[in-house]
Amino acid sequence: MPICYDEAVPYYDATRGYRAGVAERYRDACLKVIGAAPRPRILELGIGTGLIAEPFIAAGHRYIGVDMSRAMMRELAGKLHGAHRPRLAQADILRLPFAPASFDIIQAARVFHHVEDWRAGIDEARRLLAAGGALLIAENVPPDGAIPPPWTLVQKRWDEILRRMGLGAAGPRRALPMADEIMLEYMRASGADAAIIHLLEYREKPISPRMMVERRAKRMFSSDWALPEAVHREAARALYDWLERECDAPDEMVERTMIFRAVVARW
Ligand SMILES: C[S@@+](CC[C@H](N)C(=O)[O-])C[C@H]1O[C@@H](n2cnc3c(N)ncnc32)[C@H](O)[C@@H]1O
Repeated sequence: MPICYDEAVPYYDATRGYRAGVAERYRDACLKVIGAAPRPRILELGIGTGLIAEPFIAAGHRYIGVDMSRAMMRELAGKLHGAHRPRLAQADILRLPFAPASFDIIQAARVFHHVEDWRAGIDEARRLLAAGGALLIAENVPPDGAIPPPWTLVQKRWDEILRRMGLGAAGPRRALPMADEIMLEYMRASGADAAIIHLLEYREKPISPRMMVERRAKRMFSSDWALPEAVHREAARALYDWLERECDAPDEMVERTMIFRAVVARW
């Protein structure tokens, strides 16, 4: 079942948004890596509220976005005031409503870790790429060897609590089956010229352990949406308990460095 972010709309931009300038740097890095022709036809898969799309749209690029969530895309449409209005369509990444060879760039940011059959997603994108076109699948990750900030303990603790309740770690993790290297192998096996590219490094907005606990308790992570209400309530209580009794600096605001890394392929 594809995941749909309808319920994330009220808090998505506030909790997942970037500092000023990061999305513009993402756009510039993406176009540079791809060596885009003038006026490329761009498709974004899982466009959401347009955090990545907005700078492309503002710069006048020919842009189309798809997402399972109409509500996320309505949020994006509400933010656009200029003349450029991208076409937005509700669609599953695995079944895209476009003719073959329609796009020069297809990109997906922070989406493919949700796509269980990611191989079929790559095949579908490939079908839509024009000759010379590129597919760019990006995820944000901490740099290798980075010391995790204190609030990342909240995630660990949450997973432990759920495991103790017999539920295993919560939700999909991008590091599992669709790790970049596995994707790269799949693309190459299908004849692609593919590489893993470091797109950009950026600083996230600062956050405290308490804020992370509140986000967990308010079900702001997609990995928690399938948890039954009673289970979630009990786990959240245990997490608050940990915060008050064991967490060293619950209100310390710490920011971290992240990297946007992408698998880029051409067939
Ligand atoms: C974490 S959000 C990322 C949104 C945006 N790319 C960003 O970087 O802010 C994931 C988005 O992908 C959408 N999505 C997840 N699986 C999908 C699928 N199979 N087909 C289309 N959209 C999907 C969700 O509805 C959600 O809007």
